[in-house]
Amino acid sequence: MPLSNLAARDVETLVHPYINLAGFRETGPLIIERGKGIYVYDTEGRPYIEGMAGLWCTALGYGNEELVEAAAAQMRKLSFAHLFSGRSHDPAIELAEKLKEIAPVLISKVFFCNSGSEANDTQVKLVWYLNNARGKPQKKKIISRLKAYHGVTVVAASLTGLVGNHRDFDVPLPGFIHAGCPHHYRFARDSESEEEFATRLAAELDALIVKEGPDTIAAFIAEPVMGAGGVIVPPRTYFQKIMAVCAKHDVYVISDEVICGFGRLGTLFGCEKLGFKPQAISVAKALSSAYLPIAAVMIPELMYEALLVESKKIGVFGHGFTYGGHPVSAAVALKAIEIYARERIIEKAAKRAPLFQALLAALNRHPLVGEARGLGLIGGVELVADKAAKRPFNAAKGVGAQTVRFAEQEGLIVRVVAGDVLTLAPPLVISAVEIEELFNRLIRALDKTLDWVTRERLGQA
Ligand SMILES: Cc1ncc(COP(=O)(O)O)c(C=O)c1O
Repeated sequence: MPLSNLAARDVETLVHPYINLAGFRETGPLIIERGKGIYVYDTEGRPYIEGMAGLWCTALGYGNEELVEAAAAQMRKLSFAHLFSGRSHDPAIELAEKLKEIAPVLISKVFFCNSGSEANDTQVKLVWYLNNARGKPQKKKIISRLKAYHGVTVVAASLTGLVGNHRDFDVPLPGFIHAGCPHHYRFARDSESEEEFATRLAAELDALIVKEGPDTIAAFIAEPVMGAGGVIVPPRTYFQKIMAVCAKHDVYVISDEVICGFGRLGTLFGCEKLGFKPQAISVAKALSSAYLPIAAVMIPELMYEALLVESKKIGVFGHGFTYGGHPVSAAVALKAIEIYARERIIEKAAKRAPLFQALLAALNRHPLVGEARGLGLIGGVELVADKAAKRPFNAAKGVGAQTVRFAEQEGLIVRVVAGDVLTLAPPLVISAVEIEELFNRLIRALDKTLDWVTRERLGQA
């Protein structure tokens, strides 16, 4: 089909993230024009359930007038102010206070930035600063995990554990190490229970730290539930065992709550759901329900003390972003947090999670589904060519991408990541009826994919 005028202009002008740019020249974009509630509408006026809340972020859905009004009011009052060189403004102060108040661990200070990548980059720079301040200049290596996603700036991409983010970009940088991925379905040994698998992963982490030298390992960073790596829920007891290893070797733990923060798993922060207490936390996305870009690094007193020592020694804390803590973004984030609390959004989302998870688990019966998994209002559906052997499809066949297109035909937006894993993370405001409709549409897309796979014989080894 020829591309529409707007689509043709897109193809000739934009470089899009996360697409095969060559193939995209033929297919063109799906252009979204407006949104309301959990629905978005394309330029033809066709509605879609936004099954991914954008990119795991529009927790309060689209068209929330209170958020619009908060932005407009702040823009009228003070459209920009920065936090450099001792300047400040109300919205940043109030938001930092609010984040300290609701944090799941004791937080001393908050540093604002604009994206999850910037937050995680900042976390690493702060850890390096910390260990210089502590007189431990060798203790600088950072451990993340295979299949982790922490962003794409040079340091964040080094933390990320996905081949597509590394290959030919000359990352990871030296000093970034990837531990094992806590995905039981893919990486547990035969008959290894979740607990046994968790014990082994912790022992492997311990051995890795000992091999590298505990005096060289500064920090461990993890998403409570991995998102872009394929929605991977860690095995039971994983974080408790990992935390014990980190504590033993004086390794600073950062929880990357860019997806899990603000209710995705049914608790305000993901680490609360999974029962661990990190030293530092990164948040972004649902912090403002993605109405405007804003992210935050939440740091403990020990880190703040180090910043004091270093900035006194050097004469300046030489880090900061022009738009970090932007007053309009901060005002919107404050309003979003007010709405989460006042409307009991997270409590209500947690109440709908069992329905979401039951319908997700039912997909395990579908012939194309190797594993359907999730927690709270997040889900991953891993497509396989052979269920018994857990054999994936040949990646070049694009089975997941085709399912995404069939889902679009059914009026549902989902994403495919990490091979052929379909991901679901609808706005937290989705109702029970809408959850059922989302899964009905997904099942129709999976059935169409099955017909296509069978017709084209794509399942053959
Ligand atoms: C867990 C996690 N960390 C960090 C990031 C990077 O955030 P951004 O795209 O805002 O840089 C993402 C983005 O999806 C993420 O899922």
